[in-house]
Amino acid sequence: MECIAIINQKGGVGKTSTAVNLGAGLAQRGKRMLLIDLDPQGHLTTHFGLDGDAAGRGVYEVLTQNLPIEEAIHPYSPTISVIPSNVDLAAAEVELVSVVGREVILRDLLAAKNWPYDIVMLDCPPSLGILSLNALCMSTRVLIPVQPHFLALQGAGKLFETIALVNHRLNPKLSVAGMVMCLYDAGTRLSAEVVDDLAKFLDSSRGTKVPWSNARIFKNVIRRNVKLAECPSYGQSIFEYAPRSNGATDYLALADELLEVIDGRTKIPSDESLKVPPPETEATPKDRDEPVSASMPVAPPASAEKPVRAPARIPPSSAKPTKEAVTTPTKETTVVMPTTTDPTPTMTASPSL
Ligand SMILES: Nc1ncnc2c1ncn2[C@@H]1O[C@H](COP(=O)(O)OP(=O)(O)OP(=O)(O)O)[C@@H](O)[C@H]1O
Ligand SMILES: [Mg+2]
Repeated sequence: MECIAIINQKGGVGKTSTAVNLGAGLAQRGKRMLLIDLDPQGHLTTHFGLDGDAAGRGVYEVLTQNLPIEEAIHPYSPTISVIPSNVDLAAAEVELVSVVGREVILRDLLAAKNWPYDIVMLDCPPSLGILSLNALCMSTRVLIPVQPHFLALQGAGKLFETIALVNHRLNPKLSVAGMVMCLYDAGTRLSAEVVDDLAKFLDSSRGTKVPWSNARIFKNVIRRNVKLAECPSYGQSIFEYAPRSNGATDYLALADELLEVIDGRTKIPSDESLKVPPPETEATPKDRDEPVSASMPVAPPASAEKPVRAPARIPPSSAKPTKEAVTTPTKETTVVMPTTTDPTPTMTASPSL
């Protein structure tokens, strides 16, 4: 059973939209999905229209009140089941503070039984606390949604350090599958520059022992699409709400690409361009009758006028550089990433780690 954590401690980058709609896209491809809402905001829960029904039988009760996990599983469709959350889950962080092994509660519970699912997908909160650590400890892969905008990579160093720490001490099976560009505005220089910076960072880790040495930037980006913003309020995934929309097209393409990665049918696409269909414009119907299939490279041609980089676009990580951390300067920007040669960071992500 694959277990995929959708994680980025940055808020509003598309984690929940990706967990719901990528999960639903994988279900469209015949995978039996279990989606776990690890965010006390409960957005994934609401997205599946579970809200009130879920009260009393969710992640919080499983983590803190010994509720058997099968009693917290709510069927949404024949191929999608959900373990919901609500605001109570915010208290779990404090309630579990003295519990030994609190990072691996979910992992142990899920490992105790054979479940009728092909893929478990976890929607993480915008923080790197005990809930995200539970996700990392039980996952085989990490998928990082990135919104390519101003300050997109702020805090990325801390996220990679935490992943390396969990991989080293608690979960050797953990690896970073890659980054997904969400809320993508095709054709903007900033989007292309963020992708470029990420690609350089990933390329520098090839052949090393870090858990992101085989990570990719997924070629299929998720364009900004109004239907994706609307579907949560209808309690539906994009495939039910607007199956012909750009949002559905993009998430299904991403699901296919992810399946290629899971099945080992693809190599690291280090020199391939992103597939970026046209952006949604006034001239583009919001919910197209026909799926968009056109693709074009995202990076500006080499001969294009050199973009002017915003000096503060990628500020230094707020995390203190450690002995193992390296500072990777770019022309006018700095991002602190963990080293690609030593997978053992010294930073403490949790008091008990
Ligand atoms: N591709 C998209 N086009 C348009 N709107 C989108 C898209 N992806 C997400 N949104 C909207 O942007 C907002 C933030 O997305 P989402 O909730 O998925 O982010 P998140 O990373 O889970 O946020 P949080 O950190 O608060 O959990 C939501 O209102 C969502 O509906
Ligand atoms: Mg969310």
